[in-house]
Amino acid sequence: MKKRLNPADRLIVALDVPTAPEALHWVRRLKKCGVTRFKVGSELFTAAGPEIVKKINAKGGRVFLDMKYFDIPNTMAGAVRQAAKLKPFLINVHALAGPRAMRECAKALKKAGGGAKLIAVTILTSFDAAELEKANIKAPTQKTVVNLTRAALDSGLAGVVASSEEIAKLRQRFGEKFLVGTPGVRPAWAAKNDQVRTATPLKAIKDGADYIVVGRPILSARRPADAAKKIIEEIETASG
Ligand code: C5P
Repeated sequence: MKKRLNPADRLIVALDVPTAPEALHWVRRLKKCGVTRFKVGSELFTAAGPEIVKKINAKGGRVFLDMKYFDIPNTMAGAVRQAAKLKPFLINVHALAGPRAMRECAKALKKAGGGAKLIAVTILTSFDAAELEKANIKAPTQKTVVNLTRAALDSGLAGVVASSEEIAKLRQRFGEKFLVGTPGVRPAWAAKNDQVRTATPLKAIKDGADYIVVGRPILSARRPADAAKKIIEEIETASG
C-alpha cells in the first residue's frame, strides 16, 4: 500500500541553480515555509557533485535525485547503485532505455538498500507531438506514455514521471498503487517557460499525481516563500 502523504511533502522544489551555496540558501529559505522535498538535477549535480545531496540531507531536506539515467543496462545499474548511497528518497531513469536496463536498475537498487524509490521518465513534459515526431516517435503521446509506464511497472519500478495530461489515463489503466511524479506544473499565476504539457497544482493532484515538481514558478517568483505556500495550499485543497 502507498502511504498517504502530507500536502507539503507532495511538493518537490527543483533546485535548478548553478552552485551549492545557492541551493542551500533555497533549502534554508523554503524549509521555513514548510517545503521538505528538493530536486537535484543535472545542472546542480554537475556543478556541486554528490556532496550537495549529503548537505541537503543534513539540513533535514529529502532529495529527489533527478539524473534521468539513460545508458546501457550495466552502466545504468552502476549509477543507480551509487545514487542509492546518497540516500535520496527518489531516483529516476529514462524508460526509453528499455525494460532490460530498468530491470537491472531495480535489482541494483533493491540490493543496495537505502529506501529510495525508482521511477522512470516517460516522455519529457517539454515535448509536444510535433517534436516527438521529429524524434521519430510517431505514436500519440498518451499512447507512448502508457506503453512506457507498462514497461516500467513490469520491470519492477515504483512508478513514473508523467505530465498531467497523462495521469488520469495511467491511473485508469494501472490503478493507484504506483507513484506518479508530475513536472511541468504551472500555477495560474505563473509563466509556462519551455514547458508544454502543463497543468496547475490543483489539476495535477486531482488527476492523481503523488508528487508535483515545481522549479521556476517558485525560484523566479517575486516572493518565493509566498509562491511555495500558495502551491502547498493548492495541494491541500486538491487532496482534501
Ligand atoms: O522550472 P520548472 O518548474 O519547469 O522545472 C521542472 C523541473 O522538472 C526541471 O528541473 C526539469 O528538469 C524537471 N523535469 C521535467 N520534465 C520531466 C522530468 C523532469 O521538466 N519529464
